[in-house]
Amino acid sequence: MVERNCREVKIREIRFLGTWDEPSDFMELVLENPGWESYRPGQFAMLRAKLWGLELPWGRPFSISRVDAESVTFFIQVVGRGTSRLAQLRANDEVVVWGPLGNGFSVLPETPTLLLAGGMGLAPFRGYIERHPTPKYLRLLFAHRPALDFYPYSDMGQKVRAEAIQERSTDDLPDIIRRIETVMDECAGGLALACGPTPFLRTVQAHALKKGIRAEISLEKTMACGIGACLGCVCKNGQDRHVQVCAHGPVFPVADIRI
Ligand SMILES: Cc1cc2nc3c(=O)[nH]c(=O)nc-3n(C[C@H](O)[C@H](O)[C@H](O)COP(=O)(O)OP(=O)(O)OC[C@H]3O[C@@H](n4cnc5c(N)ncnc54)[C@H](O)[C@@H]3O)c2cc1C
Ligand code: FES
Repeated sequence: MVERNCREVKIREIRFLGTWDEPSDFMELVLENPGWESYRPGQFAMLRAKLWGLELPWGRPFSISRVDAESVTFFIQVVGRGTSRLAQLRANDEVVVWGPLGNGFSVLPETPTLLLAGGMGLAPFRGYIERHPTPKYLRLLFAHRPALDFYPYSDMGQKVRAEAIQERSTDDLPDIIRRIETVMDECAGGLALACGPTPFLRTVQAHALKKGIRAEISLEKTMACGIGACLGCVCKNGQDRHVQVCAHGPVFPVADIRI
């Protein structure tokens, strides 16, 4: 299973997002498609450049952002050693990929579905919007800190009803939380899907549980193997049992996971 899902592919393109005035640490990494047409949005992959050698033995997990017949795109923020090394790669360099891994978000074609994205949590929703059979039922709320130009938001915003809210300082947080809760209330009776940093997910989880809103959240944990073997990514589920986020998630029904 692992071997079947592990492939070496070439980089087609690395694009940095942002403007000339304000270069950024946000990039789109476009790889040859290793045969992932049937992936489910919300699934992720482990990436490791062949050039890393023994210095960085483990791959790094990233949401699969979009897939077409020729390519797979990841949206990545440079935060540390692995992502800085990925940013230095060039077209035709080779990357080892394991995937698609994990479960993915539910798709309910006739149900109004709210996509709640915080920062890099926008990544999986790009493919979700592109693959959804009835995008008119989708609504996106995107909370971000850096400028909107650093995110692949504008394309997404043209396809579905979308709203972006920026946190310029911590003073903005109460308004942002209120906005998330209000939009969730407006979509109650439908499905809410969330991906983003832990405090963002906690807000969504608390409100969904309080109001009985059907919701799923995608967790980000530090991962090493990505396939359930190293126990590096465990969390407690709703029954207080340990589960590996890579193998049992990363997407969980909101009541089934402790964050
Ligand atoms: C299922 C899943 C999907 C993800 N999708 C994306 C994505 O689409 N785009 C993206 O940019 N990032 C994504 N991440 C986070 C990404 O895996 C980390 O940013 C990356 O592994 C950091 O590697 P590094 O070697 O550059 O950083 P390191 O040098 O390992 O660490 C640098 C900093 O990043 C933190 N960090 C490391 N791993 C994670 C992690 N998994 N989550 C949060 N913080 C971490 C460390 O605590 C440290 O502060 C995802 C993580 C998971 C688990
Ligand atoms: S990353 Fe190894 S068990 Fe999840």
